[in-house]
Amino acid sequence: MFSILFKTGLPALAFALALSAQSPAGGRGPVRSPFLISRPVPEPAAVERGKAAFGPACGFCHGTNATGGEGPDLVRSAVALRDEGGDEIGPVIRGGRPGMPAFPQMTDGQIKDIAAFIRNRQQDAIDRGSYTLKNVNTGDAKRGETYFAANCAACHTGSKDLRGVASKYDEGVLLGKIVYPGGRGPAARPTATVTAGGKTVTGVLEYHDDFEAGIRDSSGEYHGFNLGPGVTLEVKEPLQGHVKLMKTFNDKDLHDVLAYLVSKK
Ligand code: HEC
Ligand code: HEC
Repeated sequence: MFSILFKTGLPALAFALALSAQSPAGGRGPVRSPFLISRPVPEPAAVERGKAAFGPACGFCHGTNATGGEGPDLVRSAVALRDEGGDEIGPVIRGGRPGMPAFPQMTDGQIKDIAAFIRNRQQDAIDRGSYTLKNVNTGDAKRGETYFAANCAACHTGSKDLRGVASKYDEGVLLGKIVYPGGRGPAARPTATVTAGGKTVTGVLEYHDDFEAGIRDSSGEYHGFNLGPGVTLEVKEPLQGHVKLMKTFNDKDLHDVLAYLVSKK
């Protein structure tokens, strides 16, 4: 399907980009399962610190509960849905947005705490069951259908493999799945082929950093490789389509496409 081929020794940038969805450290380390809304709720102390930092700096525009005011609702924002420990929210905070001042002085710790606070607010909304009821399915299904045809239909058919997907998940979760599908089932896991010293091994990619790769073959055996001259690693990322889309989505498209999928329930 989609493959990224690079000789090791070159920076593993393409792969790092492909995995940046899962791993804020740029794809290093164990190939983790996707996070989105299923990632853990942060510890209460961090949530409290985040709340204290959020109120005066951000609450003015985003509401003290982060559900929106002058600025957008952050509890349901696509950026906040994708965030893990501040990796998505941090650049917005440091860089600002049209209508939002930059906060370059915020420390990594403060950003992590604010991310913890927002993550906790998402969980509150989910636990109350209000996450889906308010503001999620607000899109235009007709426009979503056009968007779907242009951006999703190459891999999905709304009337076939995604029919009923809106019955399977609650709408807030589905919104997250459109951005980045969870549950690394067999069809969604990255695989890789390593060629080293005349030997070729193909299987599920379980570990990858700049120096090593680990592959589990179909018999269940784990093969570790030191990457270097003469070693080739070819990665196939089935969710590459989603990783690419992630950089182009805006909230309007996402909500429109959600409305379209919900209309196919
Ligand atoms: C003066 C008002 C204002 C303040 C203060 C402010 N923001 Fe914003 N923020 C906005 C506006 C307006 C937008 C939408 C900008 C756009 O359309 O790109 C936004 C966008 C965002 C987004 C992106 C949301 C998305 O889904 O695209 C995040 C995250 C965010 N703000 C976080 C914060 C945090 C955290 C703080 C405090 C450190 C903060 N903002 C302070 C006005 C503000
Ligand atoms: C390049 C191919 C590709 C493109 C383009 C693509 N997807 Fe996917 N999508 C996948 C793959 C692969 C999976 C994982 C399938 C699996 O796990 O069985 C997936 C999974 C999903 C899921 C989760 C399904 C489930 O049952 O959990 C949803 C929802 C989804 N995609 C929606 C979309 C939407 C909406 C678009 C367009 C905005 C889109 N996809 C574009 C390949 C693609």
